[in-house]
Amino acid sequence: METTLAKEYRRLCRDPASHQPLAYLRLRSAIRNVIEQRDIEPGHALPSERDLARALALSRVTVRKAIAGLVEEGMLTQRHGAGTFVAERIIKPMSRLTSFTEDLRARGLNPRSEFFERGIGEVTPEESMAMNLSPGVAVVRLHRVRYAGEEPLAIERSVVPANLLPDPSLVDDSLYEALEKRGCRPRRALQRLRAVLLSAQHARLLHVPTNSAGLAIERRSFLDDGRVVEFTSSWYRGDIYDFVAELHTD
Ligand code: GLP
Repeated sequence: METTLAKEYRRLCRDPASHQPLAYLRLRSAIRNVIEQRDIEPGHALPSERDLARALALSRVTVRKAIAGLVEEGMLTQRHGAGTFVAERIIKPMSRLTSFTEDLRARGLNPRSEFFERGIGEVTPEESMAMNLSPGVAVVRLHRVRYAGEEPLAIERSVVPANLLPDPSLVDDSLYEALEKRGCRPRRALQRLRAVLLSAQHARLLHVPTNSAGLAIERRSFLDDGRVVEFTSSWYRGDIYDFVAELHTD
């Protein structure tokens, strides 16, 4: 592992195309490359600052500077006294219609939610257009921060027609579990993803700096008969959530 990193660093030093005169930027690129090529797996430790400095004939200040930038980007995490680790990302396959709760449990993580709103109200004009509902009908609204254990991952605002889910308190941790119990779990969904900079308010709830990279996702889910069952807007932290799509030629 160390040798792959050292090799990559030396390759960048020789490569005129890398255009990187500063050693700490070259080392940063080398670390980024080995992580992206999975030569160091998520959750695994980077060699210590001292070992890196010695192996690459760099000063510890240079090594520290290279690492600090990647910690800021969220690619590395530092645990006091334990060292520097490749950040673990949560990979979400895009082709399956699964819930947040299911995605996290499948990875052995502990999903939980903090509710800001769990009530019933009248559909707004924008929601009624998106959900194909008549003006004035009742909808259930959920506004939650979604966590993996203690780590906030996403903010979600969901709207569900009240004729499908009459009581918001039926949603405990999982919206899809509540819908499943009522026989109206979504069967199909349209999802739109967009890169965003997280606003101060969202960033605060997600424990990241304002303007950090995020993913805004809008999901409209349908029942078999074509009725819209949910309209959810989510803001995910860009530093720990990956969406992966499997593509076929036919
Ligand atoms: C994901 C989707 C949401 C969906 C939610 C349901 O986060 N982006 O559109 O509402 O899963 O998750 P759960 O059943 O855990 O509430």
